[in-house]
Amino acid sequence: MLCNLWVASALCAVALSAPTIPYSSAAAERPTEMKVLSEYFNMLGSKVQAGNQMAEAPVCDLSNAVLPTASPTALPKPSEGLVLKHVAIGRGTQNYSCSTGNATAPPAAVGAIATLYNASCVASTYPDLLNLLPSVALQFNLSSVSQTSLTPSNLAISGHHLFTNTTTPFFTLNTDAMQLGVAPCAKNNSVSAPTSAVKGQYDQGFGAVAWLKLTARSGATGNLEEVYRVNTAGGNPPATCAGMPATFEVQYAAEYWFYESA
Ligand SMILES: *[C@@H]1O[C@H](CO)[C@@H](O)[C@H](O)[C@H]1NC(C)=O
Ligand SMILES: *[C@@H]1O[C@H](CO)[C@@H](O)[C@H](O)[C@H]1NC(C)=O
Ligand SMILES: *[C@@H]1O[C@H](CO)[C@@H](O)[C@H](O)[C@H]1NC(C)=O
Ligand SMILES: *[C@@H]1O[C@H](CO)[C@@H](O)[C@H](O)[C@H]1NC(C)=O
Ligand SMILES: *[C@@H]1O[C@H](CO)[C@@H](O)[C@H](O)[C@H]1NC(C)=O
Ligand SMILES: *[C@@H]1O[C@H](CO)[C@@H](O)[C@H](O)[C@H]1NC(C)=O
Repeated sequence: MLCNLWVASALCAVALSAPTIPYSSAAAERPTEMKVLSEYFNMLGSKVQAGNQMAEAPVCDLSNAVLPTASPTALPKPSEGLVLKHVAIGRGTQNYSCSTGNATAPPAAVGAIATLYNASCVASTYPDLLNLLPSVALQFNLSSVSQTSLTPSNLAISGHHLFTNTTTPFFTLNTDAMQLGVAPCAKNNSVSAPTSAVKGQYDQGFGAVAWLKLTARSGATGNLEEVYRVNTAGGNPPATCAGMPATFEVQYAAEYWFYESA
């Protein structure tokens, strides 16, 4: 089988090595998970097939990649003059607090922690595959997500996401492999995820977190200016704190799109 670099990074490892997919036989009782995974592997199969027939690997040209548009309400476009620098799949948890003990109050968002996986090449070559990745990634438990790449796509880690305080989402895209910069951000805009979004692991969640536009605060490097969180899967808390512990985590995945000044 022909495995060019671009295929190898995202697709080939899966196609070649008959991966040990870390889901149990009980998965058959989880129709959403099975649907998501089978869609993904069917698409993967056809991509690898197409890859075999290509004489030349496509160039991973990010100028071909198109930021997904939220429906029914769109986020504002990236600011004039910015160019796409990186696309990552984020996989981690959204953290919430119910520490006030008020059972009718909604949980308060207190941050998130996620690993970022390099999906730039997939974004520029196979946007349909990219857009399935968050919902696929969500079905894999964090403990089963490898330290160096995202099961089952084999995408390499390109950075990390955390919060430095409750209103400052922070991204670092500096790894041994690539130094793309860091970006402390502030929320600029938020729209609800489409109702078709995957609600949570095994379809048992409370919905997908909002799509966001973030703008960099001072301290950003690598010319990073704006970050979008789109195609979210999972991450929402229950509507109220009833029965919830003082702090808790909700599994989520999303695409992150990073824009820099030219
Ligand atoms: C993921 O973790 C949950 C909670 O520990 C467990 O119930 C579930 O079986 C795990 N799923 C997989 C696919 O390992
Ligand atoms: C990793 O990210 C960089 C920067 O966005 C990009 O140039 C490169 O093509 C990416 N690699 C893969 C395999 O996606
Ligand atoms: C969120 O969850 C992560 C993972 O358990 C934890 O390390 C982190 O401290 C939590 N953050 C907050 C703000 O609760
Ligand atoms: C509990 O939360 C609800 C909903 O946010 C609010 O209306 C109510 O005033 C809160 N009660 C107390 C005691 O803070
Ligand atoms: C959070 O951090 C940002 C950036 O350092 C700062 O501007 C903001 O005032 C901080 N907010 C709180 C509530 O501490
Ligand atoms: C969002 O960004 C636009 C363009 O940079 C700016 O004009 C607007 O004030 C920002 N809004 C918020 C809520 O930060």
